[in-house]
Amino acid sequence: MDKIENVPGHVSIIMDGNGRWAKERGLERCSGHIEGVESVRACTEAAVESGVKYLSLYAFSEENWGRPREEVESLMGLMLKSVTGELSNFMQNGIRFMVLGNRARLSDGLNSVIDDCMKKTEGNAGLTLIIFLSYSGRWDILQAARKLASEIAARPELAAGLEDMDADGFGRYLVTSGIPDPDLIIRTSGEQRLSNYLLWQGAYSELFFTDTLWPDFRKPEFYSALCEYSKRDRRYGKVK
Ligand code: IPE
Ligand code: IPE
Ligand code: MG
Repeated sequence: MDKIENVPGHVSIIMDGNGRWAKERGLERCSGHIEGVESVRACTEAAVESGVKYLSLYAFSEENWGRPREEVESLMGLMLKSVTGELSNFMQNGIRFMVLGNRARLSDGLNSVIDDCMKKTEGNAGLTLIIFLSYSGRWDILQAARKLASEIAARPELAAGLEDMDADGFGRYLVTSGIPDPDLIIRTSGEQRLSNYLLWQGAYSELFFTDTLWPDFRKPEFYSALCEYSKRDRRYGKVK
């Protein structure tokens, strides 16, 4: 593989198409989710190799709670198994692991495994791997606004400073505080929508859509997306 120019610092993926991948093979939807975990592994490796600093993955949206109970349970079970099983890999490869989203909706068991993995890997200086779980962009903006409002309710003198608050200032209340905005958002499976993902943070992200279903999205597909990104011209509203 030739060296890729202009590697994005933060790559984010909307991992879609597991159900269709399974259906094409006459399998249950959960087989697609299980195979999708292999793609997570492959893309994590590719991100480390290519020098990407942040890889974030949309694993479960707030809206996904509305899926049939068995599917939700199998996804949460898979998450628990993967987080537990990957810890040694994270330590070996210097990966810092994070889960962001509405953690209050997750089970105590899953939350404690996540907390343990985040704590053990927090000093790792390589790739930061972020899993967005029970996340949605509108929920994130709402929880930020609530946090800000309750801070001001507790200390009314802070209200005067609101005039000077800019987008970066507000961004510190989002769950992604301290994490750079995604440079590239990839969505697999042919759908061309954001499905309530990183609505604030994705304001100037480059978007890459591919028909490949998530379980088939492996290293070559990841590198192709990086190549495509390297040809993009980001102008941020300015004239070049
Ligand atoms: C993505 O695959 C995984 C999650 C959203 C949890 P889907 O389960 O949405 O697969 P399709 O879109 O039905 O094929
Ligand atoms: C988006 O996929 C959410 C995740 C990949 C976690 P969905 O399959 O839930 O999105 P829609 O329903 O096609 O918009
Ligand atoms: Mg889908």
